[in-house]
Amino acid sequence: MQDAAYVRDAFARIADRYVLTNHVLSCGADIWWRKVVTARIRRWKPARLLDVASGTGDLALEIQDQCPDCEVIASDFCAEMLAHAASRGVARTMVADALQLPFPDGKFDVVTVAFGLRNMADYPAALREMGRVIKPGGHLLILDFSLPGGILRPFYRFYLHHVLPRMAGWLTGQRDAYEYLGGSIEAFPSGTAMMELLENCGFVETSATPLTGGVVSIYQASRPAS
Ligand SMILES: C[S@@+](CC[C@H](N)C(=O)[O-])C[C@H]1O[C@@H](n2cnc3c(N)ncnc32)[C@H](O)[C@@H]1O
Repeated sequence: MQDAAYVRDAFARIADRYVLTNHVLSCGADIWWRKVVTARIRRWKPARLLDVASGTGDLALEIQDQCPDCEVIASDFCAEMLAHAASRGVARTMVADALQLPFPDGKFDVVTVAFGLRNMADYPAALREMGRVIKPGGHLLILDFSLPGGILRPFYRFYLHHVLPRMAGWLTGQRDAYEYLGGSIEAFPSGTAMMELLENCGFVETSATPLTGGVVSIYQASRPAS
């Protein structure tokens, strides 16, 4: 769980280089991860979707393109990140804290959050708040980092704690903003732990799908239908 003021300031400082840095550090895999998430969303044919912690809007843009009949709202508490989302073409943006969303209960068919929940100050409170704005029977999709298992794990940890902060430092000039990334990934619940957390927060039909050897995972959950 993270300090909100530090997180907002860190993202404000890296906002201008965020998209490029992501593509470089993930070797472009982040583009594919968002396409996999969007393919799941398309099957539900949502009328209204909220992308929480949308940042520079990469996921919101992909959903807007792939689901033209869906009203997509991108929210984030960092205005500097969200300004990039708007200038890149996200039609509706709103500066808002994920722990206090300015929407009535059950407004959205789907809520998404990509690489955002891990940065929040209180995971259960954030999940309950996202659940509040989802319609009964609607869906939550989380995309976030996890740790690969087996032989990959020590190599990935080395990359995460030693290589990535250096490379990100060169690209953004803000190495400290990436130094906390490794710790946040280590502390973030993954796999069955995340599914349990989701169930404790009132969600049903939970699932976890690791991608790219477990470097990231998609968590899917629904609000009970009644
Ligand atoms: C790693 S970026 C992810 C951006 C985007 N979703 C993506 O996939 O690239 C994390 C974002 O979470 C936002 N964030 C963190 N805590 C938040 C909160 N409590 N409320 C709203 N946004 C938050 C940050 O401002 C930042 O833009």
